Amino acid sequence: MFDDSKIGINHSPVWARLHQHQRATRFMQMRELFQTDAQRFQRFSLQLDGLLLDYSKNRITERTLELLIDLAYEADLPGWMQRMRRGERINVSERRSVLHTALRLPQSASLLLDGQDVVPEVHAVLQRMRVFCDKVRGGQWLGYTGQPIRDVVNLGIGGSDLGPLVVKEALSAYAHPELNVHFVSNVDGQHIARTLAQLDPATTLFVVASKSFTTPETLLNAEAAKAWFLQAGSQGDIARHFVAVSTNAPAVQAFGIDTEHMFGFWDWVGGRYSVWSAIGLPVMLAVGYDSFRQFLDGAHAMDEHFFHAPLAQNMPVLLALIGIWYNTFYQAHTHAIMPYDHGLRRLPAHIQQLDMESNGKRVGRFGAPLDFDTGPVIWGEEGANSQHAFFQLLHQGTRLVPCDFIVPMNSHYGLEQQHRVLVANCFAQSEALMRGKSEAEVMAELPDMPGEELDMLLPQKLFPGNQPSNTIALDKVTPHTLGMLLALYEHKVFVQGVIWGINSFDQWGVEYGKQLARRILPELDAAAALPVTHDSSTRGLIEYFRKIHG
Ligand code: F6P
Repeated sequence: MFDDSKIGINHSPVWARLHQHQRATRFMQMRELFQTDAQRFQRFSLQLDGLLLDYSKNRITERTLELLIDLAYEADLPGWMQRMRRGERINVSERRSVLHTALRLPQSASLLLDGQDVVPEVHAVLQRMRVFCDKVRGGQWLGYTGQPIRDVVNLGIGGSDLGPLVVKEALSAYAHPELNVHFVSNVDGQHIARTLAQLDPATTLFVVASKSFTTPETLLNAEAAKAWFLQAGSQGDIARHFVAVSTNAPAVQAFGIDTEHMFGFWDWVGGRYSVWSAIGLPVMLAVGYDSFRQFLDGAHAMDEHFFHAPLAQNMPVLLALIGIWYNTFYQAHTHAIMPYDHGLRRLPAHIQQLDMESNGKRVGRFGAPLDFDTGPVIWGEEGANSQHAFFQLLHQGTRLVPCDFIVPMNSHYGLEQQHRVLVANCFAQSEALMRGKSEAEVMAELPDMPGEELDMLLPQKLFPGNQPSNTIALDKVTPHTLGMLLALYEHKVFVQGVIWGINSFDQWGVEYGKQLARRILPELDAAAALPVTHDSSTRGLIEYFRKIHG
């Protein structure tokens, strides 16, 4: 379908030049780069609509970026960007278009897919969501006892959970004061049991969110919710208390939810890219239509920047290329994400799914094996808490861990001094990681220490520095800046996938475990036959479970 010849990008001359460049510059110290260039921050930072990206604390020079941009051209990045934007079926293994960007287009736009304009459909669903959310938020959507809804429970997993959960948490300053939105994802019964224990069925609304409407975790939770509800309400009341978000209308109906209470989306929206679709319903319930629209507009602003800015001034492209610089040419295997914002504390989990489910692939988009490393392990935790947990390793461990710091300049919550302390900590960490602490600096702090003790302490108090990071500063966490931030990471992941030659939009790797779980489930029953095909470990574990269950 598309040109396959770029798959072996590691055999391209520019790949070799990047290796050479890495060898030639690997002893370069960022501290010195800052000392010799007073304009480094200005040179290596970008601003867009209340979002600042500072990428100056990286082991890069102008030449590094030139070579990385050559690599992007070698992979035909501009061509792939246009293919995605136009709705070509770039998700080749599932023969699907990839059009989450269409979900954030304004009503006046148009985008033809197979001759059909998708924008009116997108806005029609948004309007249905708006009418529904206005009723629930306004207290006109009544439960079976005639009381308004007070609690919403989203039942979904993966992309049908993490995106809306992060956005709802991040925008809590905009939330309806009397409507609580909860998220239940895990099939571990304690998740739903503990959530329902706080709720009243008469005032609770369930959103069953599943693109496929076949995901066992979600369907089991939905059945448990229905059973809990039916202890109080009747079958005829289900319509007031259960709505669905899905692409699978027959399955929604089979579950017992009228499709009149279903909000649809399309196969060209990947699960981990779906918060912008009806999967965002719990967000709209929490913050209302206007804020949700601003969230979409923020993402659209980032899309416009991504599709139109030159590669050398393009935030997602630069983040992606710098990520590849470390991942591929420095063999850094992980990438840490630290939001200095309590509302964004689950952002690392969302980006982890986005990145690792998209780019955790070992073959190219047409199936050819890749003989280089692809997506990194993404991890992270909110600051300042993480400083007191794993930052020791970042500062003095043996590994290179590129970091992203994300921090708002203003808080919604007053306590101005606390916010300043938070920001100061964030800036201090990236500075400390970059500059390190030299022998002379340590000695100056230990002026009168006797020789032997000094010999022992000095190496322990040294910080090698030269640890790279990006800082993304938001003026404030608003729906607009949050939309920009999430779209920034989506496009970053896409760019990396294009350069490595992989399809970032399928996820075959999650299927096998599901298949085996279906097989093992009946075998947990002591009366069932236990096939000899299991290895001794799996067999031993199954037998242990059976024994415990008598
Ligand atoms: O884990 C695989 C996956 O398909 C994710 O990609 C997806 O977000 C999640 O399961 C949930 O899928 P669904 O929305 O179809 O229930």
